[in-house]
Amino acid sequence: MNAVIQVRSSDGRKWKDVTCVGLSPIRFDKGPSSCECSSGCSCRTRLHVTGGSSGIGKCIAIECYKQGAFITLIARDENKLLQTKKEIEKYSVNDKQVVLCISVDVSKDYEQVENVLKQAQEKLGPVDMLVNCAGTSVTGKFEDIEVNSFERLMAVNYLGSVYPSRAVIATMKERRMGRIVFVSSQAGQLGLFGYTAYSPTKFALRGLAEALQMEVKPYNVYVTVAYPPDTDTPGFAEESKTKPLETKLISETSSVCQAEQVARVIVKDAIQGNFNSSVGSDGYMLSILTSGMSPVTSITEGLQQVVCMGIFRIIGLFYLGSFDSIVRRCMMQREKSESADKTE
Ligand SMILES: NC(=O)c1ccc[n+]([C@@H]2O[C@H](COP(=O)([O-])OP(=O)(O)OC[C@H]3O[C@@H](n4cnc5c(N)ncnc54)[C@H](OP(=O)(O)O)[C@@H]3O)[C@@H](O)[C@H]2O)c1
Repeated sequence: MNAVIQVRSSDGRKWKDVTCVGLSPIRFDKGPSSCECSSGCSCRTRLHVTGGSSGIGKCIAIECYKQGAFITLIARDENKLLQTKKEIEKYSVNDKQVVLCISVDVSKDYEQVENVLKQAQEKLGPVDMLVNCAGTSVTGKFEDIEVNSFERLMAVNYLGSVYPSRAVIATMKERRMGRIVFVSSQAGQLGLFGYTAYSPTKFALRGLAEALQMEVKPYNVYVTVAYPPDTDTPGFAEESKTKPLETKLISETSSVCQAEQVARVIVKDAIQGNFNSSVGSDGYMLSILTSGMSPVTSITEGLQQVVCMGIFRIIGLFYLGSFDSIVRRCMMQREKSESADKTE
């Protein structure tokens, strides 16, 4: 897949289209000596990462920076942003690379998000890849979760991905290249105990991604939805403090991944233009099981879904049975200890 990229003509005044003959439409600049592209394009990739100051977003930024990309980190806390910028800059592969920080709440005001992203593009050039990673979670039983948490989570996790994407999509379509990544979650593939506020926000991203992909594919813009498993990040540590016992026990049936590993997979899938991005064997199984009418990137992917769907459904039913029994056991234990308390 070759991409048409705009470069300045030799007199430096006009822009012209050239076909980047690099291996991927997103050609990370590894420096002039290792660039395979002979078309005259600089092949430098400009990446915007919301939630880039922590956890998975930070690791995605580092992964891309190591490959020569120019990075814009977007989050609210300025100190955390500056600290992360310093950390990322240690991995520079050439002295031209830039890390820009933008402090904004991606969930509040569309116009503000649009303005700051415009400013970033004026400084670094048009964005090639937007990773929507800003997100947060609240766990608890449905009736125990504050009503405003449902609204807040939908705003941050869903609208916080809509706004930045809406702000950059026209430029991507115009340039006929680009990548939009939505960081959903395995909780965006199946609903689990404790995630009544979080799961719907991550399911919503899948609907957005499917519809958007159909619109932008003819423009050579590709959408990726990532479904990370439990991942060791500051956000995960915070969430774990208030997780109900049932949620903890269900989570413990699979292992916790490292953010660097998750980031590597997401970046690779985004560069390849894969619609689905999952990590590990559980992630692979869930992606097949929930493929539904989602786009496929290759015939092989489609065939794998057709062949594996039945057997994975059987395995999935065993998992669901064991999750239900965890929930039942916890309920019985709780009721037992409550009646013991009463009799004391
Ligand atoms: N860790 C996991 O186990 C896991 C699993 C599946 C999916 N995910 C998803 O992966 C993404 C990253 O998770 P993480 O665990 O790496 O989280 P994290 O360590 O808590 O980082 C969250 C990032 O989002 C930013 N952010 C939060 N709210 C924001 C807002 N309103 N506007 C702008 N930036 C905001 C935070 O910075 P500020 O607070 O300074 O704004 C921070 O940079 C989330 O979407 C999460 O739902 C995580």
